[in-house]
Amino acid sequence: MPSQPDQLLPPSPSPISTSTTRGPKGLSSAVRTHRAKAKSKRKQRQKAHDCAAGIVLPKPPKIRSSLSRRVGKTVVVPTNFDTARFRRANWAFVGVHTCPFRMKSWTVPELLRIGFRVLEWDGSLPHVLCDPRGRIVSVLPGRPQGPEWDVVTEEATVAFEEGEKESRRWSTTDLVDGRRGDFLALDTGISYGGGPQVAGNLRNSGPMQRIIDKLLATPALQRIAGFGSSIFALYAPKVYSYYQTTLDILLAKFPHLKRPFPNSVFPAATVNLGPATVTNDHLDCTNVPHGWCTITPLGRFDHTKGGQLILWEFGLIINIPSGSTVAIPSASIRHANTPIAPGEVRFSLSQYSLVPSLILLPLLSNDEG
Ligand SMILES: [Fe+2]
Repeated sequence: MPSQPDQLLPPSPSPISTSTTRGPKGLSSAVRTHRAKAKSKRKQRQKAHDCAAGIVLPKPPKIRSSLSRRVGKTVVVPTNFDTARFRRANWAFVGVHTCPFRMKSWTVPELLRIGFRVLEWDGSLPHVLCDPRGRIVSVLPGRPQGPEWDVVTEEATVAFEEGEKESRRWSTTDLVDGRRGDFLALDTGISYGGGPQVAGNLRNSGPMQRIIDKLLATPALQRIAGFGSSIFALYAPKVYSYYQTTLDILLAKFPHLKRPFPNSVFPAATVNLGPATVTNDHLDCTNVPHGWCTITPLGRFDHTKGGQLILWEFGLIINIPSGSTVAIPSASIRHANTPIAPGEVRFSLSQYSLVPSLILLPLLSNDEG
């Protein structure tokens, strides 16, 4: 049989290099790895940019099944507040003060007289407060099921009591949060703005920072923070994803930034050491206006008689037991607490964001790396 002409034979395969250091184009493996990493980074950055710009939505977070089962049991509380009335400052992307506030706490009888009503919440069954269009404006997720959470609450309370005792050795009246009330409040985490418009870590004096660091390292507090972050993902997955995207980019770009809790998406937190944490009515205008703030009261107080959360836009007074969490857009909803009885102690942990995702746009467009 005559042999076939060469041109009809299939093309010979390219020789496969067995070298681990040289590829087909003569590139070393180190160069190829570097290029692949750079390409992956570019894609990641582009995706983050698109998410921050609202071009595409970031992937929704994964929710643990134990949490998602709670949704079916959630009680819906309708309100007359329209979220279209949320106000924010132009350009700055922070909230705005809408009215003068009273520098004195409000009592339940005073509030009932002007039309408020009490929401008898047990701190366990999840409730959502919705606007007339059914949009969730605030959430009362409460606490994880089971008696174990009582232990967590007690451990966190003890940690706060120790922190408060320690702070009395050092604190001065300068540290008392006079604007929001007569109690000691220590902020920590990532902030943005102030003088230079850059992201940075909130600073405290040495002794105060040690108190904060000790509290943040407490396992009970980390569980409370993680629960707050998880319920944020459950009830507001889109906003949660924006927080996650913002935080991921900031931490990659500025490795010196430090978030309060490794298991929480919130970039900032405040430990309110009281000993009687009772806020006057206020808005937290520097927080992201559409963002959420989780608040978990701790301590030893009768939550049916004091320390209740007052939400002006909803006309509600809400009983919140120690260890139960609520989440509100604190830059946009006017809020406060009712006074507690003499001798009682009330602390709280709040988590929030001072960093609007929009700041990422110039940050990313200037990034040539
Ligand atoms: Fe607040």
